[in-house]
Amino acid sequence: MSTLQRIGLVGGGVIGAGWAARFLLNGHDVVVFDPDPEIERKLGEVLANARRANAKLMSGLALPEGKLTIAGSIEEAVSDADFVQESLPEREDLKQQLLARMDAATRPEVVIASSTSGLLPSRLQRDMAHPERFVVGHPFNPVYLLPLVEICGGEKTARETKLAAAALYEQIGMRPLRVRKEIDGFIADRLLEAQWREALWLVHDGVATTEEIDDAIRFGAGLRWSFMGNFMIYRVAGGEAGMRHFLAQFGPALKLPWTKLVAPELSDELIDRVAEQSDDQAAGTSIRDLERLRDDCLVSVLGGLRARDYGAGAVVKAHEQRIIDQLAERDAATETSPDGLLVLYRGRVLPEWIDYNGHMTEGRYLQCFAEASDTLLRRIGVDGAYVAGGRSYFTVETHIMHAAEAKLDAPLEVRTQILRGGKKRLHVFHQLFGPDDLLLASAEQMLLHVDIKAQRAVAAEGDVRKALAALAEAHADLPRPKAVGRHVGADRD
Ligand SMILES: NC(=O)c1ccc[n+]([C@@H]2O[C@H](COP(=O)([O-])OP(=O)(O)OC[C@H]3O[C@@H](n4cnc5c(N)ncnc54)[C@H](O)[C@@H]3O)[C@@H](O)[C@H]2O)c1
Repeated sequence: MSTLQRIGLVGGGVIGAGWAARFLLNGHDVVVFDPDPEIERKLGEVLANARRANAKLMSGLALPEGKLTIAGSIEEAVSDADFVQESLPEREDLKQQLLARMDAATRPEVVIASSTSGLLPSRLQRDMAHPERFVVGHPFNPVYLLPLVEICGGEKTARETKLAAAALYEQIGMRPLRVRKEIDGFIADRLLEAQWREALWLVHDGVATTEEIDDAIRFGAGLRWSFMGNFMIYRVAGGEAGMRHFLAQFGPALKLPWTKLVAPELSDELIDRVAEQSDDQAAGTSIRDLERLRDDCLVSVLGGLRARDYGAGAVVKAHEQRIIDQLAERDAATETSPDGLLVLYRGRVLPEWIDYNGHMTEGRYLQCFAEASDTLLRRIGVDGAYVAGGRSYFTVETHIMHAAEAKLDAPLEVRTQILRGGKKRLHVFHQLFGPDDLLLASAEQMLLHVDIKAQRAVAAEGDVRKALAALAEAHADLPRPKAVGRHVGADRD
């Protein structure tokens, strides 16, 4: 876990809010300053989208969220921060002036990063008293899902600053890309800009509509760019002779004036045409709905690539393992409720967990209990290495009793009592609580310790057996819940 716990954010627009979500979902406390009077609502909406996407991508695996605070000034946002990320409007003079203020209000060793899409770091750090701690950390929208962050230092940036920023970004699931030479637009926006200029010309010249241009990307090259990029894809396109053959075959076309170096003038006529065609294309779908569609598609792509452990999927997979390790570390420091039960799951009711009755759908209750059981298993040492060694626990029985409904966004907590921690059997009683300690449901479960290959129950041994026995011993004197042993249809008292 990084020691850079408190993050100061200056600017909470599209990018600043995305940073807030990524840092919070990875357990960092975040303090944001943005003069927009609606900042709280806007941050809340982006955070809700990010929680939803993250829960899908990580299948519910989550670190406890950090705390979000809205500051009243730039100084308040950064003075206690361990790391500062600036996401102000893309204006050099404004950034220079406010970066100098952040510099004056922050401990000199704290890294100050800028989200700028293309301004030169040497110019941005000009008025800072400690320019060596300034670096560009250029992310991509949505920051909470896309891993890429370009790291670019200016003339006065210290090497340690770049390393520290890269380490923090990596720890929150990103893929830092070091830009070797300071250059306007860095790497990614230079590529995007070239393609964007051409797209605007095609609309300008009436060759294609905005929708046709998007189709030309999303049904073809766009799909393969998401995992291999330009060079690797063209290497493959060169056949067995690879890149040399590709260059020989398509090299002559590069000499033809197909594309233009400067974008068309953004005349009122061109702006109207692009905006109208874009409105037609969206067909009335709101930006928030389009954001959710975009996020769902990104989750599908990242999830597919994770299964192949390739490209951005490898970054997601490594981050997932990092979260599992951090949770295991946390779980080892046993957390108990005042009545002596194990606290094994905390979360909240997500929008897609709501059913046609307007409250949490039944499958999600089991999901919360399953998460609690997984935490318990990690706590007694049943981790990846243990399972790879051929032993695990399988759930063989579950009985859920519903007591109350859970509404959208309600906080959830599972507390668990070990009823029996025998050689083969692990008998538990989970209780799911909502706001104000309201009991929502309970679940009694029996798990069996198994030899995975032989598919039969075998005795747990070694440290796992000892850790489970210690937990069972600690719970031996707890009163037995009345609902234990109930069957479907039994009278309630
Ligand atoms: N939008 C993108 O796709 C994208 C991608 C990568 C990087 N960036 C970069 O991120 C930065 C922010 O861009 P954005 O798209 O989030 O813009 P935005 O307009 O959505 O957000 C800018 C925010 O800064 C706030 N702001 C203005 N003055 C301020 C002040 N004095 N103190 C604090 N906050 C102030 C505004 O209220 C606004 O909320 C820019 O440098 C941009 O180049 C943008």
